[in-house]
Amino acid sequence: MKKSLAVTLLLAGALGAAASAYADSRARFMAANCSYCHGPEGKSRGAIPSLAGLEPGYFVAQMKAFKDGSRPGTVMKKHANGYSEAEYEAMAKYFAAIK
Ligand code: HEC
Repeated sequence: MKKSLAVTLLLAGALGAAASAYADSRARFMAANCSYCHGPEGKSRGAIPSLAGLEPGYFVAQMKAFKDGSRPGTVMKKHANGYSEAEYEAMAKYFAAIK
């Protein structure tokens, strides 16, 4: 009984690790769609603001504001519409971690 519980916990741990690795690569994949304008890894070289190092709460708030129209944007409304709130959070975490 004890042994099977240990095996179950071990398995759950491994699945959790795989899920979070998957979430990371998914975030990186989504972020690649932003690099054309916001620069590789969100480090802009031009007039468009950088995303790298943005505070996650700020990032998510801006994405929601673009989506609901409370922040006017030239192109960002279209991009914000393409992602869910969970995906905003994943991207926010990804960009915030870039130094
Ligand atoms: C076609 C160019 C383009 C692409 C692609 C693009 N953006 Fe933007 N982004 C902009 C511009 C331009 C702005 C400035 C506001 C505006 O004019 O819409 C902006 C602003 C932002 C801001 C606000 C930054 C700040 O400092 O307030 C965030 C957050 C953002 N973009 C996230 C993203 C994410 C996430 C993606 C990819 C899913 C993305 N953008 C893809 C052009 C782009």
